[in-house]
Amino acid sequence: MGTREKIETVLTRARARTDGLTDCVDAAELVAQHSPLMSPLVWDLAHIGNQEELWLVRDVGGLEPIRHDIDELYDAFKHSRNTRPSLPLLDPDEARKYVRTVRDKTWNILDSSTFRGRRLEENGFAFGMIAQHEQQHAETMLATHQLRSGAAVLTAENAPRVGAAIAEDEVVIPVGEFTMGTSDDPWALDNERPAHPVNVPAFVIDAAPVTNGRYFEFIDDGGYRRPELWSERGWAHRLEVGLEAPQFWEHDGCGTWWRRKFGVVEPLHFQEPVLHVCFFEAEAFARWDGKRLPTEGEWEKAARWDPFTGRSRRYPWGDDEPDKSLANLGQRHLGPAVVGAYPSGASPLGVHQLIGDVWEWTSSSFTPYPGFAAFPYREYSEVFYGGDYRVLRGGSFGTDPVACRSTFRNWDHPIRRQIFCGFRCARDLPGVDR
Ligand code: AVJ
Ligand code: FE
Repeated sequence: MGTREKIETVLTRARARTDGLTDCVDAAELVAQHSPLMSPLVWDLAHIGNQEELWLVRDVGGLEPIRHDIDELYDAFKHSRNTRPSLPLLDPDEARKYVRTVRDKTWNILDSSTFRGRRLEENGFAFGMIAQHEQQHAETMLATHQLRSGAAVLTAENAPRVGAAIAEDEVVIPVGEFTMGTSDDPWALDNERPAHPVNVPAFVIDAAPVTNGRYFEFIDDGGYRRPELWSERGWAHRLEVGLEAPQFWEHDGCGTWWRRKFGVVEPLHFQEPVLHVCFFEAEAFARWDGKRLPTEGEWEKAARWDPFTGRSRRYPWGDDEPDKSLANLGQRHLGPAVVGAYPSGASPLGVHQLIGDVWEWTSSSFTPYPGFAAFPYREYSEVFYGGDYRVLRGGSFGTDPVACRSTFRNWDHPIRRQIFCGFRCARDLPGVDR
């Protein structure tokens, strides 16, 4: 597929999803604040259009501003999420009209683009960046729907409920240097760059994400009542907010756990990856299991390194784009699939479901790679480096393929769990010097 066609595909797919997530509820729901952690849906909608206006219409296209007056309202750094409902935002119909006006201009700019010249335009980077931005907000809007009290009328197929048996629970990743990050993936964002060699001692990683069933055993074994399993900060947080189970789990008092999923309560499925746990819960589970979380470098090596050629791939299965047989991405399903559901998406060494299903917490803080340079704006990554964030990898069922690859880095505060996050564990290989 050529660059122009690829851009048409990803921008069209992003808008169909944005429309679905904002047309499925009435105006009152769009302007309401469903959680102090989230923006009103109508803010995300106009913010998507405003970023597109800033980067594609004004910068790439060199056109006059459409709505210069609203830039400040939709600048994520000017107003915190919990204050956004009281701003004089565009109402739902105005926001819809605005994003359509911007998109019409974007199509004209795309028609005359050569994808050469400035770095922003090289290989259609700005278009790719804006498609990724829209899809990131679509995932955020999906998380807002999960936090809403009502059921969302979102169309999706049921996630696969039958998985293949996975040969080994854990996989050994041998010692050796691998290439982390990328310098040649044209739409990779600044924090994924540049490619650089990283030496990783041999280690062991779980072949699949931790399941609800295993997590239930942790709870049942007193996991939430044993401070020795938790970090000091984690335990203080667990006490402060009264953590007792993953978010959206409900106990019926008769020994059964249920899970609320987009407004519908259903029995917990034990073979699905656990979802909506914070970093501190993931850490405590890992200690209970005699393991630890993988570092970001270990995770990426497991997800990219080809043991036969030594080169780094774009995905665990190779360089081909994801499809529905390889990974659970793109909101095709409204939840993770059971473990073992994507055998063809496994890495050559047999690590499953690294891409899709659930974002996976790593033990690493969000820091720049050696040689990092902010591009095209400091507020995407650079201002978050060194903050209180942990890196998550691999994307979730709610992540579109355009914003997901083995180099992609997400980050959030270690107490957050409203995003579609889970984890897998790792451990040192006995006898290996680290
Ligand atoms: C990379 C997911 C942490 O949502 O805060 C959206 C993506 N940056 N608009 C976020 C983002 C600017 C970002 N994350
Ligand atoms: Fe944004």
